[in-house]
Amino acid sequence: MQVILIGLPGAGKGTQAAKIQAEFGIPHVSTGDMFRQAIASGSDLGRQVKAYLDSGRLVPDETTVAVVRDRLQKPDAEKGFLLDGFPRTVPQARALDDLLQELGKPLDRVLYIHVDPSVLKERLTGRRICRSCGATYHVKFQPPKVEGVCDVCGGELYQRPDDTEEAVATRLEQFKQTEPLIAYYEERGLLKRIDGEQPIEKVHEDVVAALAPFK
Ligand code: AP5
Ligand code: ZN
Repeated sequence: MQVILIGLPGAGKGTQAAKIQAEFGIPHVSTGDMFRQAIASGSDLGRQVKAYLDSGRLVPDETTVAVVRDRLQKPDAEKGFLLDGFPRTVPQARALDDLLQELGKPLDRVLYIHVDPSVLKERLTGRRICRSCGATYHVKFQPPKVEGVCDVCGGELYQRPDDTEEAVATRLEQFKQTEPLIAYYEERGLLKRIDGEQPIEKVHEDVVAALAPFK
């Protein structure tokens, strides 16, 4: 199963992707996570992308496509994958088309998790992430059992540096580059809209129903 998740920053892509990965057994490929890991490890890629992530601007297409190309050729991607945060521009979507054709893996579904921008500030400023395993929480909507501590691994929870008000505003603005992809995939009959303003478990039910035919 090959699936793409599209949505504004904070729409709930990462939250739903973690659940789909667990339930459908396909890898969660998040360009944002890969860039954050590169930054944490101090690699060349990390040094190249850090200023983009910190400010909320998009990393150049060439760099992003190269990272995804490598990732989708790893053995665990043979059974399919869930792309979270990629593609985000029309050139990225075209590059993905070419790559999927090379790999002989057609797209099954594009899920557009739709939310009104007005809900995002609270979601993003309340988000907390585990430093060790990457699990996502929210101080109000998805609190850990013990404040500041990951339920899964006991790791320390932190706030992403791009969850400041200024970077969030830039990230929302950058979504203009992603909007054309909605029509791009709708025209091919691949797009399914999901109401992302419902509680997390209800969104998950809708996601599972949309993906069930491809399991
Ligand atoms: P990326 O990591 O992809 O960030 P994003 O798109 O801004 O998305 P987020 O991770 O912020 O949000 P999400 O939709 O996953 O929400 P979440 O589930 O955490 O990208 C970061 C940066 O990397 C970019 O700015 C760019 O610089 C670079 N980058 C990445 N991909 C790129 C690309 N393809 N090209 C170029 N540059 C790229 O949920 C948010 C919070 O809300 C959580 O606390 C969660 O608990 C809570 N929540 C979730 N669902 C609900 C719900 N239904 N109700 C209530 N609360 C909820
Ligand atoms: Zn953890």
